[in-house]
Amino acid sequence: MATTESMIDEALSSIPAAPATLALLRRLHTQALTEPAYVSTDDTQPASAALDRFVALEPAKCALVYLLLRASGARYIVEAGTSFGVSTVYLALAARQNALAAGLQEGQGGKVIATENEPAKADRARTHWAQTGGEDRVGEWIDLRVGDIRETLRTNLPEAVDFLLLDIWAYLALPALRLVKPKMRIGATVVADNVVAAQESYGDLLAYLDDPANGFKRSTAPYPGGLLIAVYVGSSG
Ligand SMILES: C[S@@+](CC[C@H](N)C(=O)[O-])C[C@H]1O[C@@H](n2cnc3c(N)ncnc32)[C@H](O)[C@@H]1O
Repeated sequence: MATTESMIDEALSSIPAAPATLALLRRLHTQALTEPAYVSTDDTQPASAALDRFVALEPAKCALVYLLLRASGARYIVEAGTSFGVSTVYLALAARQNALAAGLQEGQGGKVIATENEPAKADRARTHWAQTGGEDRVGEWIDLRVGDIRETLRTNLPEAVDFLLLDIWAYLALPALRLVKPKMRIGATVVADNVVAAQESYGDLLAYLDDPANGFKRSTAPYPGGLLIAVYVGSSG
């Protein structure tokens, strides 16, 4: 059986990043994986005990997200649910690397819009990003919006969003998708965590994605809890 360390090592083996960035991710994943598991199945509010827990997308899922981003050349990325900013590091690395690969200048032509409701968590996320290797410029690629996602994603989105990571309490997944969808380009990808483990709570999201009028195709990858991958194919798809 894979150990925590070997799972993290395997995931990080696909991530080109500065040694300080990889060391930070290794430390944060280890911390997150040693906390008791938490799956959001709550339709209203998370249990207050969950508020301070170190919850982060598992390393293998982060690596998959990173590879999907690199495969699609995604540069404009929205993250619903940032917490302590672990997954956000992967998003920022991919946005920057895709922008540079497309011949764009440093800091140009891409952004990760990160969202977190709790100011203390947002502060921790910023602290973590400042501990990444300077050459990765992680913080420069992130626009962190602190507040309720139903407000923070209401304005000032990129004209063409390439990717949406839904890693937030299940009842907020569909509201977040509805806010971002008008800006999604054809081929934009949506990833949502724990859709099998929290199937009932995700009922509205799954029904929305399955309605042909909304223009999505989806599949669920058999990662722990189930990882939904949906593609916006548009009304003619
Ligand atoms: C599963 S955690 C995100 C983990 C993060 N993606 C990672 O892998 O490092 C979900 C986060 O969504 C945040 N959240 C909950 N309700 C929110 C809301 N209404 N607006 C913005 N963020 C919210 C929670 O505080 C929590 O930190």
